[in-house]
Amino acid sequence: MSIVSARQVSKEYKLGKTTVLAVQKINLEVEKGEFVCICGPSGSGKTTFFNIIGCLDKPTEGTVQIMNQDVSGLSDAQLSELRNKSIGFIFQTFNLMPVLTAYENVEYPLWILGKEKRERRRIVLKMLEDVGLLEHKDHKPDELSGGQRQRVAVARALVTMPALVLADEPTANLDSKTGVAILELMRKMNDEFSTTFIFSTHDPQIMEYAQKIYHISDGRFIEEESRKRG
Ligand SMILES: Nc1ncnc2c1ncn2[C@@H]1O[C@H](COP(=O)(O)OP(=O)(O)OP(=O)(O)O)[C@@H](O)[C@H]1O
Ligand SMILES: [Mg+2]
Repeated sequence: MSIVSARQVSKEYKLGKTTVLAVQKINLEVEKGEFVCICGPSGSGKTTFFNIIGCLDKPTEGTVQIMNQDVSGLSDAQLSELRNKSIGFIFQTFNLMPVLTAYENVEYPLWILGKEKRERRRIVLKMLEDVGLLEHKDHKPDELSGGQRQRVAVARALVTMPALVLADEPTANLDSKTGVAILELMRKMNDEFSTTFIFSTHDPQIMEYAQKIYHISDGRFIEEESRKRG
């Protein structure tokens, strides 16, 4: 089953008189259960592309299908529903809610889905344990380190067991041991539940986890590698 199908996707930003071509004619097909990495230097268009396939932004040209559904025809409410039910997004800048504790940030998407309180508690505590943050559950984001905040963002994206996880440099603020632990957690979800992962990174150690690597430069895919996972 196709989870993401992006065809000839381009995104232009207008800044005064100049036009930035942030993403140019990208084609990407991702099947259910794939573990894919998009790798490229700063400014190459990774976040722009994630925002488009995560239905947070619209392309200037091209089409995006998520689970065989063309998202350009969906209303804002339908897009929200698709995101809440099926997509876990780990933002490069975390986007945590500052007034909520780590626990409450992770609980929030379950609340949106209408899960009952006791079940929420069970799932959130397990998730916080998996990312090594149980002791910090009552801290608010500004009482956490950068890496701890990143792990809250990871937990919040995974807690609903979405079909698709988009992880924009999910280990950028972590030491290599913690980074590997987070990737192991994702790999376990991928193995057990066929969760589809698309992540971006600069880190060669993290790239090793991917089955497929797409190299992006100046908004274009320049190369694709397939590999057997070790
Ligand atoms: N809202 C915006 N308005 C104008 N230009 C933008 C906007 N967002 C991004 N850009 C430009 O688009 C290009 C791609 O940016 P993007 O954030 O997608 O890169 P990136 O690969 O995620 O980089 P990084 O590794 O630093 O996160 C850059 O040249 C950037 O300056
Ligand atoms: Mg980025």
